[in-house]
Amino acid sequence: MSEYNKKTIDMYSLGGALEYIGHNDIDPETEKWEKLFNYVKNALPKDKKVKIIEFGSGCGQLSAMLQESGYDVTSTDVVDTFLEEQRRRGITQIKKYNFLLDDFDNVFGSKADLIISWRNPHLDMDDMRKLFDVVYDGLNDDGLFIINFQNSDVHPEADMLPNGTKYNYKILEDKQTKEKRFYAYFSKDDIEELRKNLFDIVEYHNEGGKEQKNWHVLTLRKASDIAKS
Ligand SMILES: C[S@@+](CC[C@H](N)C(=O)[O-])C[C@H]1O[C@@H](n2cnc3c(N)ncnc32)[C@H](O)[C@@H]1O
Repeated sequence: MSEYNKKTIDMYSLGGALEYIGHNDIDPETEKWEKLFNYVKNALPKDKKVKIIEFGSGCGQLSAMLQESGYDVTSTDVVDTFLEEQRRRGITQIKKYNFLLDDFDNVFGSKADLIISWRNPHLDMDDMRKLFDVVYDGLNDDGLFIINFQNSDVHPEADMLPNGTKYNYKILEDKQTKEKRFYAYFSKDDIEELRKNLFDIVEYHNEGGKEQKNWHVLTLRKASDIAKS
């Protein structure tokens, strides 16, 4: 787990999460959540009951929508304030879980058919590698992984960590956050390196911002163990 991920979690725990929840109350981004909900629903097989786990669910909007539609979904986070917010929204299956440190099987007891990691830009390349391994091991055969990454193409000003991660450590201009936050940016080549041997690409597109390219969005399918070895 990188020092930046740790610092970000500390920042959220020491007031940043309340600030995040407050911004969300002012601008609930309803259309964006509906779009994501439909994207997830369309990716899922229609003919079987699936177990869904969302990593880093924050306020829990997506998990709440999935639960409301009858899906078996568990929302998670590592920050207590976010877990309380998820409870307040009525989510019934909630786990405190740090996907970079905690043992998946101990926390969840069984594998998932879909794992979602949405808008978690606070991970450098090494943290991402770990996340991909954890998701691979946490999924049933043919399980799906939905993830988005901030696009390095729209951040030419970014600095570079020794491990090659493009990043900023900054106050958000549009939201005027009190503390700096770590934002990592990824290229298509970075994503290719992360997913090869582990996942096949089911769907890929860009979205967000004026030019609809702020984020890479992917649905991935777990490749067989043979491909991994
Ligand atoms: C920018 S917020 C996004 C929350 C939500 N997914 C959304 O789209 O609004 C990032 C979330 O990831 C969580 N997070 C960051 N690092 C984590 C880790 N190592 N394990 C679990 N959650 C983590 C944070 O606590 C926070 O809730």
